[in-house]
Amino acid sequence: DKITAVVLAAGQGKRMNSKIAKQYLMLKDKPVLYYSLRTFEDSIVDDIILVVGSGEIEYVRKHVIEAYQFKKVNHIIEGGKERYNSVYNALVSISNTNYVLIHDGARPFVTNEIVDRIIKNVIDTKACIAGMPVKDTIKISDKDGFVSDTPSRENVWMIQTPQAFEYELIKKAYDIIMKEENIHVTDDAMVLEYTLGNPIKLIEGSYQNIKITTPEDIKIGEMLLSDQG
Ligand code: CTP
Ligand code: MG
Repeated sequence: DKITAVVLAAGQGKRMNSKIAKQYLMLKDKPVLYYSLRTFEDSIVDDIILVVGSGEIEYVRKHVIEAYQFKKVNHIIEGGKERYNSVYNALVSISNTNYVLIHDGARPFVTNEIVDRIIKNVIDTKACIAGMPVKDTIKISDKDGFVSDTPSRENVWMIQTPQAFEYELIKKAYDIIMKEENIHVTDDAMVLEYTLGNPIKLIEGSYQNIKITTPEDIKIGEMLLSDQG
């Protein structure tokens, strides 16, 4: 079976409020994007498609791929306006693969254990996503900002990436949703949920598998790295 990783780095990082996009900010001595590419490079995935912002291909080729000598990053493509546009650009660019692992380049702390667990499970289930049970109680608010519901905590997960799918399945789901007018999806699983409705298995990621989103996440990231020595 051929397994392809899609690493997304085409976002603008508005919530980070920094001049350079968050995926290129330094964590310790390497860019955020380096860390997840390293994990996929060292895993059993066959190739990596890197999705970057418009006009960034040559910069990334030089300063990330060549600088750190990644061998599996055989394609660097441009993303689109929303995350789902970036994913779709990658999916249409793939010609023959059996499984895809879609990952946020803004999640540097994905580990080999998580990648192995996701691969093992996607082969069994055709669709599986990393996440963790929430630690806080979650409440749903009504439109006026009052509590309307409290879901039972053991059934509530916060969702991470990688999200992995049989290629033909997720491609078909995306083909359907991309024809719609108002698309409201924030992850890849939602695309499948809203279209073909196949079961999607929840797999443990880790509490360290955070997404670098706001400035304090850079500090947390530095702490997690210094922990790893
Ligand atoms: N992403 C992408 N293409 C987009 C938007 C997002 O490839 N059009 C990627 C980001 O680079 C990131 C991942 O999707 O790795 C998760 O998105 P998010 O954390 O929302 O990143 P940004 O969109 O860059 O940040 P913000 O929403 O704060 O602007
Ligand atoms: Mg975003």
